[in-house]
Amino acid sequence: MLHHVIYASTALITFDPPMLYQLLAHARKANHARRITGMLLYHNNSFLQLLEGPEEEMQPLFQRICDDPRHKPVVLNNWQIRQRYYDEWLMAFIDHDQTLQDNRPDGYIPYNAVLQDDSLLRGIDRKLFERFHAGEWSRKV
Ligand SMILES: Cc1cc2nc3c(=O)[nH]c(=O)nc-3n(C[C@H](O)[C@H](O)[C@H](O)COP(=O)(O)O)c2cc1C
Repeated sequence: MLHHVIYASTALITFDPPMLYQLLAHARKANHARRITGMLLYHNNSFLQLLEGPEEEMQPLFQRICDDPRHKPVVLNNWQIRQRYYDEWLMAFIDHDQTLQDNRPDGYIPYNAVLQDDSLLRGIDRKLFERFHAGEWSRKV
């Protein structure tokens, strides 16, 4: 059975582009090995993630993500699905310094592309995305 989780989280540390690229490379490889697909967005000190995959892989992965002290997740959806929305695992964020402009890893999507193209956000309600983009889970300073 396929399982699907959507959560938002507040980053408890500052993630700069090199850290985000590192997270992308690590998670993409680990998720691929576990047949986990989906999308992770980072904006304004907060994350929004859709994860989907076999139930037996999702539970331990999501537990590890929740135990990660670098952020504080809030679950928004957690249920079974018949079909995946994604066929790979992708991550979108803004690379302010264009750190890896010429050598971006597979799976990177510029955050602006998500703002402009609705079809990139499969399985994530546009209204939920707008709440995320407006900073609902952003760290209050
Ligand atoms: C917002 C956020 C999303 C993450 N998403 C994933 C993910 O999809 N897959 C993954 O393997 N690790 C993800 N991680 C990393 C895990 O929290 C954790 O660091 C990692 O699973 C530990 O891997 P290791 O046991 O191989 O060191 C995420 C971390 C954060 C902060």
